[in-house]
Amino acid sequence: MISGRTRIFGVISDPVEHVMAPAINNAAFRKLGLDFLQVPFRVKKEELGKAIEGMRALNIRGINVTIPHKVAVIPFLDELDPLARRIGAVNTIANDGGVLTGYNTDAPGFLQALLGKGIEPKGGNVVILGAGGASRAVSFILAERGSNVVILNRTLERAKELADGVLGALRKEITALKLDRENLARALREAHILVNTTSVGMSPNINETPVSADLLKSDLVVFDIVINPIKTRLLREAEAAGAQTIKGLDMLVWQGVTAFEIWTGLKAPFELMKEEVIKALEVASLRSQ
Ligand SMILES: NC(=O)c1ccc[n+]([C@@H]2O[C@H](COP(=O)([O-])OP(=O)(O)OC[C@H]3O[C@@H](n4cnc5c(N)ncnc54)[C@H](OP(=O)(O)O)[C@@H]3O)[C@@H](O)[C@H]2O)c1
Repeated sequence: MISGRTRIFGVISDPVEHVMAPAINNAAFRKLGLDFLQVPFRVKKEELGKAIEGMRALNIRGINVTIPHKVAVIPFLDELDPLARRIGAVNTIANDGGVLTGYNTDAPGFLQALLGKGIEPKGGNVVILGAGGASRAVSFILAERGSNVVILNRTLERAKELADGVLGALRKEITALKLDRENLARALREAHILVNTTSVGMSPNINETPVSADLLKSDLVVFDIVINPIKTRLLREAEAAGAQTIKGLDMLVWQGVTAFEIWTGLKAPFELMKEEVIKALEVASLRSQ
């Protein structure tokens, strides 16, 4: 029952129709008996500042931030968690008595998904495909953990910028290469972990893959952060090659768990949130067919 005591949370995005956070968080709030409610808000780029001011004025307790606002939202916040500051992107805001603090839960969510499958990336050779927003968080957390990172991107300039900028701050040697077959084949020869952060293979282009099947091998861990479809062509071909695979939905669940715990200070119901993510993804996949 919604009342004057109900604490309101939001998710801002544009478009917003696809967001899964309300289904997942509201199920978790109910499970823990919390009088909390999360609702979606479509926020246009040019209205972002006003939306954040509105969050303060309306005493909205927390907001998930998704595309295209993760970087642009930073100037409107009062404080940044150190990890969000170093990555330069925010996907969770907490409102503590009018003080808005930005967090990045994509990076710990990604790491937690790896560790949860028994994979320790420290000291390993990791090949990361893509240099967009998600790669920022993934590359940073892997380099910080002590992996040897190679970034390959279709647009070489973007890979270089990522390697020199965010990752340069870690004073780590990061290799940036153009994403082509020759570079990929060479990088994968020495690799322990392959992470796809590009949108290649994402619905509706589910028959595409960023890596040709003959380059995959059984001693590789393949993590595809694409969430729709749940099992991408890359993951299917990696499985067929005998590789260990990790799905994007694991990262999605763990980043949501981290955000939930920041907001509530309570242990998140992991299994329930994972079930809700799977349900939401199945609905999304049916809708996109
Ligand atoms: N599992 C999770 O929790 C989670 C979290 C965040 C994002 N994601 C997923 O990660 C993916 C990327 O998201 P993002 O926010 O990083 O997007 P983004 O900022 O738009 O970056 C897209 C990346 O994909 C590359 N790319 C796009 N089309 C390509 C093509 N045809 N061939 C080669 N490379 C191509 C881009 O290369 P250029 O630089 O050359 O354009 C860029 O590196 C999406 O599928 C998103 O749903 C998952």
